[in-house]
Amino acid sequence: MTRTIVATPQDLTITPRPLGIGKHANAARWWHGGDPIATTWFNALSATFPQGETFFIEAVRRYRDDVGPALKEQIAAFVQQEAMHTREHVAFNKLIKQAGYDTSAMDEYTRKRLDIARKRHPIGQLAMTVALEHFTAIMAHALLVDRDPLPGAPDDVRKLWHWHAIEEIEHKSVAYDTYLAATKNISGLYRYYIRCKVMFLVSLLFWRANIRHMADFFRQDGINTPRTWWRVAKYLFGTPGMARKIFVPYMSFYVPGFHPWKHDDRALIARIERELQKSE
Ligand SMILES: [Fe+2]
Ligand SMILES: [Fe+2]
Repeated sequence: MTRTIVATPQDLTITPRPLGIGKHANAARWWHGGDPIATTWFNALSATFPQGETFFIEAVRRYRDDVGPALKEQIAAFVQQEAMHTREHVAFNKLIKQAGYDTSAMDEYTRKRLDIARKRHPIGQLAMTVALEHFTAIMAHALLVDRDPLPGAPDDVRKLWHWHAIEEIEHKSVAYDTYLAATKNISGLYRYYIRCKVMFLVSLLFWRANIRHMADFFRQDGINTPRTWWRVAKYLFGTPGMARKIFVPYMSFYVPGFHPWKHDDRALIARIERELQKSE
């Protein structure tokens, strides 16, 4: 029996879209409709994005001359998209600070973690990027597939997250394809082992960092209590249920022969993009 090999669609285009709204957005402390749980979940993610995405750019760009022309072009578009995400989330994170939060401990924690990551072998750094890009793509899908993603957010902030989610889905295979190209001389079994091992470790670090940052925000709000964390559990596993929704797509990464485009969600991003344009 022949197995169908799924790869990046040949007609995929990765389009860096200018945004520039972060600095004009609303700066309410609990900007997500006054809900500290939803606000903190997104704030904690955003706190790590600028440094994290800079790391992704470095890890992928390092291989741009070792890949074919089509992937090289995709890497260039990936770098542009991630650089713009960094810029917009720097602006958004300034709003978080203006709302009265001190994010310096989170920034320092992220810097230290990434300093450790930068000491790893370049293939290891690329595998970490592959793992985190899988997280961003499946979270982006889970966010956009909701009938009303970020219902309590002001328009500009909602737009920022929708825009970011669209581009994360669009470029979801770039790090993965770069990893396949960079490890082409390694046995299939060994490269499968590396990506799964790294994914497992990165998953622990990803959740640890998010929980740590959320606790920091809750402490600053004086609500770091069991009741708050019970509400977090309900938010992540109940409604809207981001952690619940990403569980199966997350596990698909461990299936041999996984490829991000086995799940083609281009129709979803086309629909959200149309809605974004209409709202302009
Ligand atoms: Fe991004
Ligand atoms: Fe990304």
